[in-house]
Amino acid sequence: MSSALLTGIAELVTNDPGCGDGSPLGVIHDGAVIISGDAVAWVGAAGDAPAADARRDLGGRAVVPGFVDSHSHLVFAGDRAAEFASRMAGTPYDGGGIASTVAATRDASDERLLELLRTRVAEMRAQGTTTVEIKSGYGLTVGGEARALRLAGLLTPETTFLGAHVVPAGARRDDYVRLVCGEMLQACAPHARWIDVFCEPASPHAFDGDEARAVLTAGSSAGLGLRVHGNQLSAGPGVRLAVELGAASVDHCTHLTDADVDALAGGRTVATLLPGVEFSTRSAYPDARRLLAAGVTLALATDCNPGSCYTSSMPFIIALAVREMRMTAAEALWAATAGAARSLRRDDIGVLSPGSRADLTVIDAPSYLHLAYRPGVPIAHALTSRPGREERNET
Ligand code: NIG
Ligand code: FE
Repeated sequence: MSSALLTGIAELVTNDPGCGDGSPLGVIHDGAVIISGDAVAWVGAAGDAPAADARRDLGGRAVVPGFVDSHSHLVFAGDRAAEFASRMAGTPYDGGGIASTVAATRDASDERLLELLRTRVAEMRAQGTTTVEIKSGYGLTVGGEARALRLAGLLTPETTFLGAHVVPAGARRDDYVRLVCGEMLQACAPHARWIDVFCEPASPHAFDGDEARAVLTAGSSAGLGLRVHGNQLSAGPGVRLAVELGAASVDHCTHLTDADVDALAGGRTVATLLPGVEFSTRSAYPDARRLLAAGVTLALATDCNPGSCYTSSMPFIIALAVREMRMTAAEALWAATAGAARSLRRDDIGVLSPGSRADLTVIDAPSYLHLAYRPGVPIAHALTSRPGREERNET
């Protein structure tokens, strides 16, 4: 297998605290990386680099582990720009607009949905994302949910069944929960790694704690890992339920009680913050410092979706985390890479060390600090990124 040596790396972030400066980011100044096939073969100081078959000079740029966008809803058609405009004029977000995306998605052909999906994944990759989790949730029928997951599975192994996104128009709540836990789950489980539920008693469209528990328990019995949309609009039961059931991640965490923070601190569930949602719904941001002070593991993701947050940019999310949630740039970068990898229970991504996947993101700047320092400027690009199986098969 041929190897390539990357040099000219002014700042190499490995996320391996055993490397470089000993910080959680494991920063090596004037670093080098050797890639062999799909994997990292060596990292270290440029002066110590062994020989390789090929060599590439990155001209004094920074290199970081590829961003892991661990929460997105990319399988959709339609547009809700008018809903966004009305929110900016004061209408609060409550998930009611999801119905319009469901209608547009049901109307779209498989070919059209796949084309939209590919475009969105390519947009992410162009901004430095090398792994993306993709949820269903805009079909809300047995066939529609299975189709979304089958298409998402062409682009990523991180697929999530979100039949329990909202109760579809015309359905009775208890009938719909039974369908999600029965026939729909059976059809979707072969195409999904995870199951998720929008647990939000404050929304008339989403699910309460008992309904969420039923969905998650059924998903777990079908062999799926657990994720939860929790505590987005109110301090509901989502966070504590996620921790109790051993979910890999509970996402949003915007409204938390002390008991929620204690539960997260005492459990293994990662708290995934999605500050693009607060930006795009003009809401108060989650209290990242409170969670960090309690020792909770944080991830950052985009939540890219047509309603609450239509950005595909992890650098933008990092900038928001630093500016609006007072995370340090180092904490934010760690959460967007290693933390998000942890939320997907993956140890082969989010880190650059021998044996990890060769998912590298290059920053057109001498330091990762520029991710927050230069908001909105397209300086991050995936170098050797393969967000999905499809692309892996092509290489
Ligand atoms: O994570 N909260 C529920 N689901 C998405 C929004 C989906 C939509 O509005 O289309 C979220 O914010
Ligand atoms: Fe979401």
